[in-house]
Amino acid sequence: MKYAREKINKNSGKDSPYLPVKATIENAEDLTARETLLTITVDGGINYQPGQFLMAGLPGHGEAAISIASPPARAKTYTIDLCIRNVGSLTAKLCALRGINTIWLRGPMGRGFDMPPRGEDILFVIGGMGIVPARSLIKAVIKKRKSYGKITILYGIKTGSELLFGKEIKQWQDSGAVVEITADAPEQEWQGKQGVVTTLIPPLDIDRRRTTAYLIGPPAMYRYVVVPLSEKGISYDKTFLSLERRMRCALGKCGHCLIGGVYVCRCGPVFSLTELTDMPGAI
Ligand SMILES: Cc1cc2nc3c(=O)[nH]c(=O)nc-3n(C[C@H](O)[C@H](O)[C@H](O)COP(=O)(O)OP(=O)(O)OC[C@H]3O[C@@H](n4cnc5c(N)ncnc54)[C@H](O)[C@@H]3O)c2cc1C
Ligand code: FES
Repeated sequence: MKYAREKINKNSGKDSPYLPVKATIENAEDLTARETLLTITVDGGINYQPGQFLMAGLPGHGEAAISIASPPARAKTYTIDLCIRNVGSLTAKLCALRGINTIWLRGPMGRGFDMPPRGEDILFVIGGMGIVPARSLIKAVIKKRKSYGKITILYGIKTGSELLFGKEIKQWQDSGAVVEITADAPEQEWQGKQGVVTTLIPPLDIDRRRTTAYLIGPPAMYRYVVVPLSEKGISYDKTFLSLERRMRCALGKCGHCLIGGVYVCRCGPVFSLTELTDMPGAI
């Protein structure tokens, strides 16, 4: 199996990937009852790919893997977005930060998404919090809108109240992206589609010769999305998935993220479907 794109963290600390760099919270906005969008300034700036993640920490509370939610710039980026879901001890603290606060970051970690080739149609199939790393890539391709063909975004959520980035999604549509949103078990007032995200795939008109697909969501979603997409003829080499595993070191040292001998923190979290066929149990 080849991992030619493997990148080792070069941004963290000055000399060691174990040393975090300081970042300052510029703004915190509650997007839903559970998710908060932090806009932060990173000391020294960072270079990253969409789909890469940071280890974000607070002294005394540990650190957690958090995807970079904003698009990269050509040169260094100083201000980035992180979207945090409050699920536990550290994420609760991060979501509660208000005013000028400091957090500590190691990364960017792993390998992310390569930009699709010019002229390609792009299909995103996104579930739940997958919208966070997807947003980085979506905004990057929309910035270069003229370089691509059709951009189609299928986004599945459990309930309407879990919808993230609703206002921005309208802007994506205004820039020519087709966005379809469906809720599994919506509230009464939900006016959109109902059902799981896979129900949006069969009606799609896909040109299999020029389509790259990005699947970003929970592993359970992948099991159901991969089959209809391959039936549409999208090749495994042009289908990319982002895996989420519990991470500790994010440096290929502790083994927490191992799947069949592959360190997700360093070789992923983004893999092509071809690569995943050699990793039983990955999805
Ligand atoms: C590559 C990657 C990118 C991620 N990006 C984001 C992001 O952008 N925003 C965000 O909010 N979260 C993200 N996560 C998940 C995040 O790292 C965990 O939710 C976080 O570690 C929880 O820390 P905690 O101390 O708050 O929770 P804990 O108190 O440690 O745990 C709370 C609960 O969350 C579960 N949990 C913890 N980590 C994970 C995990 N990795 N997968 C599934 N369940 C987990 C625990 O089992 C427990 O039930 C990402 C994870 C990975 C691996
Ligand atoms: S998180 Fe420690 S080896 Fe990947």
